[in-house]
Amino acid sequence: MREKIVTGNWKMNKNFPEGINLIQEIIEKGNSTPNVKIIVAPPFLFQYEAFNLLKNTLIGLAAQNCSEQENGAFTGEISAQMLKSAGTQYIILGHSERRSYYHETDQVINLKIKQTLKYDLKPIVCCGELLEEREKNEHFHVIKKQLNGMFEGLSAEQISKLIIAYEPVWAIGTGKTASPEQAQEIHQYIREIIQNSFGGVVAQNISILYGGSCKPSNAKELFEKPDIDGGLIGGASLVADDFIAIAKSF
Ligand code: PGA
Repeated sequence: MREKIVTGNWKMNKNFPEGINLIQEIIEKGNSTPNVKIIVAPPFLFQYEAFNLLKNTLIGLAAQNCSEQENGAFTGEISAQMLKSAGTQYIILGHSERRSYYHETDQVINLKIKQTLKYDLKPIVCCGELLEEREKNEHFHVIKKQLNGMFEGLSAEQISKLIIAYEPVWAIGTGKTASPEQAQEIHQYIREIIQNSFGGVVAQNISILYGGSCKPSNAKELFEKPDIDGGLIGGASLVADDFIAIAKSF
């Protein structure tokens, strides 16, 4: 049985007290949702406080990025090792905003995945095509290229520790969701790629999340699809009621 997962990616939103309030509200409303793993991904600043609030709950804690470097003179960066020591459990890697605004390549994301696994953290690895790539019918090719680049040098055992998120860039923050059929088609394709390189057991057990304007009104029809195991939620994760309603949509 694959784990059902709903992760809230806060991005660069909320000040410190607002963030703590949101975590407390999510604990109150979401801690009794045992058939789905709820994960929150607040900014770095909140991680240690969030860890203290979440430690006796069922809710998981993710960061939104980490450095590809181990440690040293990299001003402004945060390492996987630091995050591990502050109680972080998961790290979102390769989000399209990191790719487009901070020029992260599949090769850099690959190094970040290796750092994350080295410290026994679970990477939530994102992929997804741009609108013009979909319009040119290149989406399958783009997804395959991203996955192959990010998975370079990883063993089947390492791949089995990943969570994948398919996030079509044209659906992120736009209000435009991929249809359940469009999402299912790509999720199935991602599972096939993993099956071909790392075997059927790994492919069947890996959770693949959908992201891109997922909200309470469309989560159920997406999560009903056989290869969609949950969601990576941006905007709607900033409102506890909406986020928990999504988590209860299975
Ligand atoms: P959105 O963002 O739900 O606001 O579209 C999803 C994401 O970027 O992870």
